[in-house]
Amino acid sequence: MCGIIGAVAESAIKPVLDGLGRLEYRGYDSSGISILSNNEIQTIKARGKLNNLKQRLSMQALEGKCCIGHTRWATHGKPNETNAHPHQCGQVSVVHNGIIENYLELKRKLVQWGHHFNSSTDSEVVPHLINHYLSQQMTQEEAIEKAITQLKGSYALGILINGSSNNLYAIKQDSPLVISQGNNGFYMASDAMALGADSAKIYYPKDNEIFQLNSHEIKLCGNSINKKIHYINNQNSAKLISKEGHNSFMEKEIFEQVDLLKRLSVNSHANKYSTINFKELKKITIIACGTSYYAASVAKTWFEKYAHILVEIDIASEYRYRSPIVTDNELAIFVSQSGETADTLAALRYAKSKKAQTLALVNVANSTIAREANFTFEIYAGPEIGVASTKAFSCQLAIFYKMAIEAAKQRELINNAELKQLIFSFAQLPYIMEKVLQRCTDMKAMAKKICKYSNVLFLGRGALTPIAQEGALKLKEISYIHAEAYAAGELKHGPIALLDEQMPVLVIAPKNNLTDKLLSNIQEVQARNAPLFIIGDKSIREYINLQEDDFFELPPMPEAILPIISVIPMQLLALYSAQILGKNVDQPRNLAKSVTVE
Ligand code: M6R
Repeated sequence: MCGIIGAVAESAIKPVLDGLGRLEYRGYDSSGISILSNNEIQTIKARGKLNNLKQRLSMQALEGKCCIGHTRWATHGKPNETNAHPHQCGQVSVVHNGIIENYLELKRKLVQWGHHFNSSTDSEVVPHLINHYLSQQMTQEEAIEKAITQLKGSYALGILINGSSNNLYAIKQDSPLVISQGNNGFYMASDAMALGADSAKIYYPKDNEIFQLNSHEIKLCGNSINKKIHYINNQNSAKLISKEGHNSFMEKEIFEQVDLLKRLSVNSHANKYSTINFKELKKITIIACGTSYYAASVAKTWFEKYAHILVEIDIASEYRYRSPIVTDNELAIFVSQSGETADTLAALRYAKSKKAQTLALVNVANSTIAREANFTFEIYAGPEIGVASTKAFSCQLAIFYKMAIEAAKQRELINNAELKQLIFSFAQLPYIMEKVLQRCTDMKAMAKKICKYSNVLFLGRGALTPIAQEGALKLKEISYIHAEAYAAGELKHGPIALLDEQMPVLVIAPKNNLTDKLLSNIQEVQARNAPLFIIGDKSIREYINLQEDDFFELPPMPEAILPIISVIPMQLLALYSAQILGKNVDQPRNLAKSVTVE
């Protein structure tokens, strides 16, 4: 993970610090900058959040035209100041995102050559290697080129060299990187979102192209730039910073979902979905990680139910290692909010190598996954800053729902009345969601009780099992309460052994054809004295005796949209539990928004 940024501009420190603020979602255990000031590289680092670095910087008047910065998510080496980037060797300073897999071997060699290392990171070998080749009279470009031929693994690098000319270099392999030309300077960063209002033109480098940014131009070393330029909307980055009156980005993003779904239900992207020939498809495979994987799990139920298509789902980190069978007429869908998740990207590349037709479902339009898939559908959730994914999930589900309808239509497996009903249900979705959000104080009361426990068991059935899993993931991510989820029928096959007064069980209980079965599962819970909490239809209360605070009522709604609605109380539960426990909702420990390492 980690976020990197660099600028060649008047007062380069400002765009770098602003960009680090926007990159903090990629890691926040330490940060640092290197700046060329008075012909010297000055490096300042701090442990913890970016504010600590800013405080240090406020104590010294540093100015310069060439600056690199880093915000870290520790892989190799503890999150402390020594391991924070940039790492420097002589006149070379480097920021790195990725993993240098052969760093131990390289380090051994460099130590034999007389190099001394300060950190326990993999990254520190990079400035040492470059410095070594510079000392052999190579030019800056030659030294970088030679150094990267030694590296195995993934990297996006920002390299500052203090030499006869002051240059910033950027290069990548299997890690995201953008290069940008603005009116007032030249920039490089992990993603386009990190760049401020000055950057309009964005270049997406290919692996191992070496870019030089100097005070006059951006140079592709050895070649002239002849690449496609993608324009980004500069307003996005400015808008990002605001929580719009909410306590956290996550809270803002939860409440934003109503408007996003209103927009999605009005905009017809149906024409786009019809570019996929669902009629001829034999199989859909959906591959993703984390929350996006749970969206895939819900999508499977819709595609199977409404379009009768065989759907396999897989966790991206497993997919390419299990020799999956890619058949003719198979569509492989890759779901990713960030579009940069290393496991999902690697799975996409694997599927492409096996000649599968690939489709990316992403939130970040120009992300690597979006650019590499054969087809790309956006979910239009807008920038999601909270590390715990919320609005991206409901928008992923909304798009999947529309795709399933299109598939059902093309395969002529659904009559007009059913089709109309599904479309009508979708149109109702934001209004029902609004009602649920209006009851958020009820969820505060439930959270107050639940967050007194150390463990919680979530139960669901059918398409609501992945929602229970998503609820458990949300709770553990930001409140650090241990939570697991099961299909309710599985309770008796093992997890029931855990039940006692200290193991609360939260059940999603709608009124549908499985209600009777679920009620039996609920009885089993109550018989073992486990504290019971229900998110469900009003009618459930007729059968189960529960205190007011232990029940969160779901409004009546069509079965098809239940998963999209019932995730809302789950998100609120996690949010309020974390708030009550005083946790950092947007930046939970050990996590990063975009997981760009394997
Ligand atoms: O950007 P992606 O959708 O590919 O990310 C996948 C997961 O890393 C992500 O959903 C993660 O599980 C979130 N922290 C969940 O809240």
